[in-house]
Amino acid sequence: MATYRFQLNGRATTAESWDPEQPLLYVLRNALGVHGPKFGCGLGQCGACTVLMDGKAARSCITPVKAAAGRNITTLEGLGTSEKPDAVQAAFIAEQAAQCGYCTNGMIMASKALLSQTPKPTLDQVKRGLAGNLCRCGTHTRIVQAVMRAAANV
Ligand code: FES
Ligand code: FES
Repeated sequence: MATYRFQLNGRATTAESWDPEQPLLYVLRNALGVHGPKFGCGLGQCGACTVLMDGKAARSCITPVKAAAGRNITTLEGLGTSEKPDAVQAAFIAEQAAQCGYCTNGMIMASKALLSQTPKPTLDQVKRGLAGNLCRCGTHTRIVQAVMRAAANV
């Protein structure tokens, strides 16, 4: 069994896997107990599993664990806490930008990546930045408002 070492939410982390192609999502959820990233499609098409890899959005369902070696991985758990949410999390709460919440991890992580690249995006840039993240509940309007709120507050 191979061992993979990476930073997970700022902590040195070791994960073992029989298969270097095993999706990072499975390692995070099943081996490391990190449940922020969700399994939606498993095909890289919905964004529910999004994490940050060296600050860039990555779909962990199609990212092999071997690709995480030596990288900085940030999940929803690495952003803020219930008591002290980060700016994007706080904006999602303020705008009540969730219904079932299944897409929320991906929306927040994709928004973090977007805002790190474009701190003051236009409405259109937010819409385009989140176009690849699906929400089956139709919460897009509130989600976009939340990202705009976060951008205004950081
Ligand atoms: S679960 Fe990864 S993109 Fe859908
Ligand atoms: S809030 Fe349900 S999928 Fe987006």
